[in-house]
Amino acid sequence: PVIYIPGDSGALALGAEKVAKAIAAELEKRGIEATIVRNGSRGLYWLEPMVEVATDAGRVAYGPVKPSDVASMFDAGLLSGGQHRLSLGNPEQIPFLAKQTRLTFARCGVTDPLSLDDYEAHGGLAGLRKAVAMTPADIVQTVTDSGLRGRGGAGFPTGIKWKTVHDTVAERKYIVCNADEGDSATFADRMIMEGDPFVLIEGMAIAGIATGATKGFVYIRSEYPHAIRAMEAAVRVARRAGVLGPAVLGSPNAFDIEIRAGAGAYVCGEETSLLNSLEGKRGVVRAKPPLPAIQGLFGKPTVINNVISLASVPIILDKGGEFYRDFGMGRSRGTIPIQIAGNVKHGGLFEAGFGLSLGEIVDEIGGGTATGRPVKAVQVGGPLGAYFPRDLFDTPFDYEAFAAKDGLIGHAGITVFDDTADMLKQARFAMEFCAIESCGKCTPCRIGSTRGVETLDKIAAGIEPEKNRALVTDLCNTMKFGSLCALGGFTPYPVMSAINHFPDDFAPQAKLEAAE
Ligand code: NAI
Ligand code: SF4
Repeated sequence: PVIYIPGDSGALALGAEKVAKAIAAELEKRGIEATIVRNGSRGLYWLEPMVEVATDAGRVAYGPVKPSDVASMFDAGLLSGGQHRLSLGNPEQIPFLAKQTRLTFARCGVTDPLSLDDYEAHGGLAGLRKAVAMTPADIVQTVTDSGLRGRGGAGFPTGIKWKTVHDTVAERKYIVCNADEGDSATFADRMIMEGDPFVLIEGMAIAGIATGATKGFVYIRSEYPHAIRAMEAAVRVARRAGVLGPAVLGSPNAFDIEIRAGAGAYVCGEETSLLNSLEGKRGVVRAKPPLPAIQGLFGKPTVINNVISLASVPIILDKGGEFYRDFGMGRSRGTIPIQIAGNVKHGGLFEAGFGLSLGEIVDEIGGGTATGRPVKAVQVGGPLGAYFPRDLFDTPFDYEAFAAKDGLIGHAGITVFDDTADMLKQARFAMEFCAIESCGKCTPCRIGSTRGVETLDKIAAGIEPEKNRALVTDLCNTMKFGSLCALGGFTPYPVMSAINHFPDDFAPQAKLEAAE
């Protein structure tokens, strides 16, 4: 028998290690032989630690499991999927999972993350095998045809980025994977790196073959020690198996990967700052142009893609650009791993084709707030994303639809707030976050964010609120159009959306008077 207990850091934070120890001890006590696999998470975090057993009738899940539940689970016949208070049945039929379209996350939580055999048995390496038999230009064309856009947040077409690197002549080129996942509410990159690291390795190898790069770096934030360990171990396995190295899968293509731990600043997720950090310099933003695709790491043409962009490539190569393009809406093609967090009942990762409405995601999939109070606002796209009120819940999850409502999808993290949230405090938090994380290179961001905090404090104290609201608006315009990168340039989104959609929270005097 095989028992799956997630080794994913989200599950570990919820006690998976203690559960694993309790299960191992119980097996020994009862003299039962069983294999324990530390799988990734399926992303249903309110059910973690979720234990699964492989039975003749398929996988059977239990959760959330505490060490004190383990003995009774064995009494109930855990190894044959026996009925227990924590039974969840076939995990793939849990509505949260059954309603998803799992393309990029197909294996996450299913396979043993470090078993290349398991990876291949579940469709892994099929994309890379096709890629080694294609011309680089055809690989780039397939990715372009798929309509894949950068999943880090900016949504730039991946195929066009690869074409720029492909077309630039240089004796050395690089693939850099941005795994400095810093947005609030986001954990998709981490889940893939811990739960299915080979899919990222495969995607990077395909990118290397497509563009003529022979070396890749994965820049992982230092706060992700489990992901760093998983990627390092997976790279070693891939090298031993000839997936990486001088002859990728026996082809004439060389490609190898190095894992780097990030330097611990939010701005190091900005691509040029990341390049500086990789080069051993301070993580300060570089002016563009030149684009990294032309002069990137060590001045050489460089593809910088987010983890999810690269991890989406193997299935595109395997099934074809059209297969992937058939999912989604408008110019947002394929699937997107939506990460639902904050004050929400069913927090987790939901991969779906673009086009679900924000209301469906929050109310139906997320199940509303964990506190049971009404949803007041949701912030979409991390700390630099806009706050959406209920009135905008009909907005479909699509890059252009969100931009049309002065918002952004970003890396697809959603933070839910109930009606006790104070949006003035949230606006102040955005400015404060920007002040703390600013790299200091340009004035609108460096000085503007600090002045923004002071001005919002004045509004909170009831000092000339109207004049100060106008000042914040003016400041946001300067930051939006005058900043060098997205940190200063996007901080106005949370601030202005809070002011525009929740004006009552910015009239503290009026609130005080009403209360009296
Ligand atoms: P951007 O719009 O400046 O660039 C998008 C990408 O396209 C870059 O990689 C750029 O180098 C590339 N590019 C543009 N023209 C090109 C061409 N002709 N050929 C090849 N490549 C080309 O956006 P930026 O500043 O890179 O990213 C901003 C986004 O980052 C925001 O939307 C935000 O949501 C997101 N973000 C994500 C975070 C995360 O944790 N994933 C954290 C913070 C921000
Ligand atoms: Fe640095 Fe902020 Fe300017 Fe970006 S906007 S370059 S983080 S000072």
